[in-house]
Amino acid sequence: MNGPPARPGNHGAWTPDPGTHDGPPNIARMYDYCLGGNDNLAVDREAVERMRAVLPELGPAAWANRSFHQRAAIWMAHQGIAQFIDIGCGLPRRENTHQAVQKVIPATRVAYVDHDPMVITLAKALLPPTEDTCVILADLRDPASLLATLRLDGLIEFAQPTGLLVTAVLQFVDDASDPGGCLAQLIAALAPGSYVALSHMTADRISPRAAAALTGSYRDAADHLHLRTRADVEMFFSGLDLVPPRKGARPRISWAGLWHAEDPAEAADGRSQLWWVGVGYKPPVSAPISDGTRQAPADAR
Ligand SMILES: C[S@@+](CC[C@H](N)C(=O)[O-])C[C@H]1O[C@@H](n2cnc3c(N)ncnc32)[C@H](O)[C@@H]1O
Repeated sequence: MNGPPARPGNHGAWTPDPGTHDGPPNIARMYDYCLGGNDNLAVDREAVERMRAVLPELGPAAWANRSFHQRAAIWMAHQGIAQFIDIGCGLPRRENTHQAVQKVIPATRVAYVDHDPMVITLAKALLPPTEDTCVILADLRDPASLLATLRLDGLIEFAQPTGLLVTAVLQFVDDASDPGGCLAQLIAALAPGSYVALSHMTADRISPRAAAALTGSYRDAADHLHLRTRADVEMFFSGLDLVPPRKGARPRISWAGLWHAEDPAEAADGRSQLWWVGVGYKPPVSAPISDGTRQAPADAR
């Protein structure tokens, strides 16, 4: 499996009062703590430790997801994708999406999107907009206004293929908000030739007790956790061609660590089995098949 760096974590540029207990746990800060970062509060750490008591592999599992995010983005860059929309981007860390993909195609553009004003404030401070990046406050559950904000910003050219990254975010969208429908609206706005990378937490391989501890730890957070099955996650790829998770495999979703893993045997362990992941391709629209009733073009009559 693609393991964590020697010292996981981020810049630690935001140094909250370590004793602060105010407010509910925050999902972006909880994830930061799982990754070994410093941008979190006691209330976030306590929520994570409650999960870790029944799921000791939580930290490596978070890294399995983050590593998939980076591998998928880099893989897309190798397919020629030079602009990305990273929705539910989370708190900035040592290597952010643009820093990963610009190693493949310099000047690749990345729009960072999150619905949490705290995340956006910190991202704006630490990732000041350059000509290649922007940071946008928008909610996945309102795709029309998310797309309108991106269009207004102008960084992303919707006529060009795009890499859409939605990793570890749909699990915070409840069924009533129609996560599949919201995602479909976003995909509809992308040019053919675009790719979508998606990861989603699942309880398919953990005990009911561990699943209850996971969802329970998010009960006080602003966004609750919704664990979904393999079949649920496959539905998110409707209308897309799934990319095989490795050379020679059939197209399908896989455990996080297995997707284009350097060492598939090592990657298939429990750490990566908290996530279903996949990459989908938006194929070119096929030409409509003529039923023979279409009128000839005016200039040919
Ligand atoms: C666990 S972090 C994932 C960070 C990053 N995508 C990754 O996989 O490494 C989830 C992020 O999704 C954001 N988020 C949750 N619901 C969202 C929504 N409806 N719209 C936009 N962002 C959302 C949270 O604020 C948080 O920053």
